[in-house]
Amino acid sequence: MDFLSVITAKKLGQELSADQIGLFARGAADGSIPDYQLASLLMAIRLNGMTPRETNDLTMAMARTGDMLSPEVGGIPVDKHSTGGVGDTTTLVLAPLVAACGGKVLKMSGRGLGHTGGTIDKLESIPGMRVSLPEEKFVGIVRDIGCAVVGQSRELAPADKRLYALRDVTSTVDSIPLIASSILSKKFASGARAIVLDVKFGSGAIMDTMDKTLALAQAMVDIGTLAGRQVIAVISSMEEPLGTHIGNALEVKEAIDILSGRAGGDLKEVSLFLGAQMLVASKVCPDEQSALARLAEALESGAGLRKLKEMIRAQGGDDRVCDDVSLLPQAPFIVPVPADRGGYLARMDTAALGNAAQAMGAGRRTKEDVIDPAVGIVMNKRLGDRVSPGEALATLHARTEESAGLAADAVKRALSFSDAPAEKPKLVYAVITRDGIRKL
Ligand code: URA
Ligand code: CA
Repeated sequence: MDFLSVITAKKLGQELSADQIGLFARGAADGSIPDYQLASLLMAIRLNGMTPRETNDLTMAMARTGDMLSPEVGGIPVDKHSTGGVGDTTTLVLAPLVAACGGKVLKMSGRGLGHTGGTIDKLESIPGMRVSLPEEKFVGIVRDIGCAVVGQSRELAPADKRLYALRDVTSTVDSIPLIASSILSKKFASGARAIVLDVKFGSGAIMDTMDKTLALAQAMVDIGTLAGRQVIAVISSMEEPLGTHIGNALEVKEAIDILSGRAGGDLKEVSLFLGAQMLVASKVCPDEQSALARLAEALESGAGLRKLKEMIRAQGGDDRVCDDVSLLPQAPFIVPVPADRGGYLARMDTAALGNAAQAMGAGRRTKEDVIDPAVGIVMNKRLGDRVSPGEALATLHARTEESAGLAADAVKRALSFSDAPAEKPKLVYAVITRDGIRKL
């Protein structure tokens, strides 16, 4: 088969066969198809779309370009994936809680790039914590303890690596079949049988309208169902950072504060909601209500915090951070950002806040950048809050005074005020399962 004929078929809006799609995925993984031809097909897919059958074939073909794991964890391996947020530390809150309820959370996580943080980078701010472990080791931890969070060890869906890099530079990221196959090929390869997708909506989210967000979520649930996986998609808000802390050690601290019962708020609420979907998807609990009750109990009793300690210890980290968060890296300059004016906090540019933390050193601009675990931003105000002039909007944790100054300006620019009371956005908009959509 000639790859040019595959490009031509999609250019003309035709449906591709499984063989044509297999050639594409293999050619992307093994390098036998040049970048310009891959890019051309990516644009044809972006413009003409794919049927559910084609998207499903593409997902499976991409998954099969690398290792396919089938870990024995003593239960149904469950994973959660977020399409990318700011202050989005749900994994560190929910993995131990779900494990404390009997779930088996095998999370292969990524590093941060752009304005979103990566769970692996956050975990590495814990002294001694190892995020690259041999497969038998982390599978053993999930079997014994119930959760492990590690970086990708083997080559999972290598076709995606090449295609994603090309999409980034050819304006073909925002394609539902391409996003859905990219995310799910990696999840299928990692051996997850139950998958909860946290699809973000709002400033800096992957899709710019609710209709497209719902369509992406629905496509991923459909692919999962066809592949015999339990996939539940949750549409949640990114109109503001989810937690109040943005930065690596800062986000670990917020997760510990929540598990210790010292902190609440939106991060806790969304973590419990996603955790409940994980317990349902992996058949530990029969329904959302019983799952939420189990999770609340695990939080209340401290069982979740004890699980986090066990996981940190099993991965070589210093679990004393759970009792004393001052053992986490601390920034030398801690300075408030006072409000120039009063009013109601009406809008936040979430991506800009993520970028401000990144510029302070909390994230990478290029793959080679080294992260500063201690720095970041703690938001003191949330959407809808009333602010008086001079009141602290946020607290900066900076390496230098200069970077604090730049970040203060960026934080102020990212916030908009109104004189009339502003509404707080919804936290969770909808849940999509194989049985349909539930709007909240
Ligand atoms: N995350 C992915 O892994 N792939 C995409 O295409 C988009 C977000
Ligand atoms: Ca993330």
